[in-house]
Amino acid sequence: MTMVDLEADVAEILIDEEPLQVRIDELGREISADYEGRDLLLVGVLKGAIFFLADLMRRLTVPCEIDFMAISSYGDGTDSSGVVRILKDLDASIAGRDVLVVEDIIDSGLTLSYLMRSLTAREPASLEVCALLTKPERREIEIPVRYVGFDIPNKFVIGYGLDYAERYRNLPYIGVLRPEVVANST
Ligand code: IMP
Ligand code: MG
Repeated sequence: MTMVDLEADVAEILIDEEPLQVRIDELGREISADYEGRDLLLVGVLKGAIFFLADLMRRLTVPCEIDFMAISSYGDGTDSSGVVRILKDLDASIAGRDVLVVEDIIDSGLTLSYLMRSLTAREPASLEVCALLTKPERREIEIPVRYVGFDIPNKFVIGYGLDYAERYRNLPYIGVLRPEVVANST
């Protein structure tokens, strides 16, 4: 599959490379100011958040570390199953740490709400969330999200780490997946 084939499945570009990077610059400055004098632990949620996390972390001017968690939510479909399971846990304890969870996208909120419960129980000094994208219309559970990159409409998006059935993560922008792609694969 070449990039040309990948792009054929994109209905529209929702957020292009440049506005993405401009917004991540702003988030980097805001987070650096908020955590000044503290030592930050970024928790990346695999796999979708890795592109965003890597770009965001390079903008932070406070000392920081990273750790990762992997959680199952959607399988290969486009809708939340409601079944959430930890596939990979953090390597180290977060007790007493300032933790910032970095997520690619918050849709129903079910995945993050489960994750926040699990992390809160480990007694971090502070726990906040930074999500590149959120779909406010789709929210089923209210979760306080301290930092949001972009609010987006209720469309299935791909690229910049976001996948459909593990594909399209390597597109450099956030695009809307053609609905036919989903229809033809189910
Ligand atoms: P939630 O539990 O419904 O909030 O789903 C969160 C997870 O579903 C995200 O971390 C993504 O992995 C995935 N997801 C939700 N919406 C999209 C989308 O539009 N494109 C790609 N993945 C999505
Ligand atoms: Mg996914």
